[in-house]
Amino acid sequence: MAESPSTNTTLRLSGKIAIVTGGASGIGEATARVFANQGVRKVVIADIQDELGNQVAMSIGNERCAFIHCDVANEDEVQNLIQSTVNTYGQVDIMFSNAGIFSPTSQTVMELDMSQLDHLFAINVRGMALCVKHAARAMVEGHVRGSIVCTGSIHGREGGSRSTDYTMSKHAVLGLMRAASVQLATHGIRVNCVSPNGLATPLTCKLLGKSHEDAQEIYKSLARLEGVVLTPKHVANAVLFLVSNEAEFITGLDLRVDGGFVPNDLCRVVDNAMPQP
Ligand SMILES: NC(=O)c1ccc[n+]([C@@H]2O[C@H](COP(=O)([O-])OP(=O)(O)OC[C@H]3O[C@@H](n4cnc5c(N)ncnc54)[C@H](O)[C@@H]3O)[C@@H](O)[C@H]2O)c1
Repeated sequence: MAESPSTNTTLRLSGKIAIVTGGASGIGEATARVFANQGVRKVVIADIQDELGNQVAMSIGNERCAFIHCDVANEDEVQNLIQSTVNTYGQVDIMFSNAGIFSPTSQTVMELDMSQLDHLFAINVRGMALCVKHAARAMVEGHVRGSIVCTGSIHGREGGSRSTDYTMSKHAVLGLMRAASVQLATHGIRVNCVSPNGLATPLTCKLLGKSHEDAQEIYKSLARLEGVVLTPKHVANAVLFLVSNEAEFITGLDLRVDGGFVPNDLCRVVDNAMPQP
């Protein structure tokens, strides 16, 4: 008889308790599914899309996945996410801090809308920091040599012609990861980033006003690698590597899943496809 993922000890995340923020959609959803298939005891999806989050959790299976409403910009809700996970399952081994947004319009520095920037920073920077802060506290208190992965972006590496607020926020995520990786190393806690190239997800399809296929076509121009198109599963597999024992000695790394990113001019193809102020 086939072993279930939660009892098969040869799987890479056997027995672990994981949290995935932004797990109702896109990269987070794909990662929650990969975690579940790799034997986690429980993967907790934390998101503001309650209906979708519950649907994803149910489709993965209640025995391995649960949904918790959590707005990562709200410290009480993040504390509740971590505390209820510890209370129910005993500990947090893995935090994939992934929830993030784009602003509705893509701006140059001269067009920055400060209320849009504040909202974006509340989620992409403050929210990311809150998830790392409270997951790290729970790991330290529980003497867990855990693993934290934050979702960065190619926008965390260099500037482009637009998306100024988003570029700033993803640079901040790298700073957070680097500081935390140094500070938490004494506790045996690893902190890394996964930085995808642009890819078609509900977030980017909605922003570009394009179908999945059309968005993929636009993003193809951002990667040198031919014959393969970046999907959420590629990113999820990179996260799986980072949180697994195979990456036991890796911390402070920004793992780029970018197929050889083509910067500068070609980036304009995407920038110009986005709504502008
Ligand atoms: N799609 C891309 O091209 C791309 C490229 C590089 C990096 N990223 C990053 O990947 C991450 C995931 O993006 P995606 O493309 O899968 O988008 P997505 O919209 O499909 O998924 C993001 C999820 O985050 C949730 N979310 C948004 N605000 C939240 C909040 N305040 N609290 C909790 N959850 C919240 C959304 O409800 C959604 O379910 C983001 O951090 C994004 O910046 C995306």
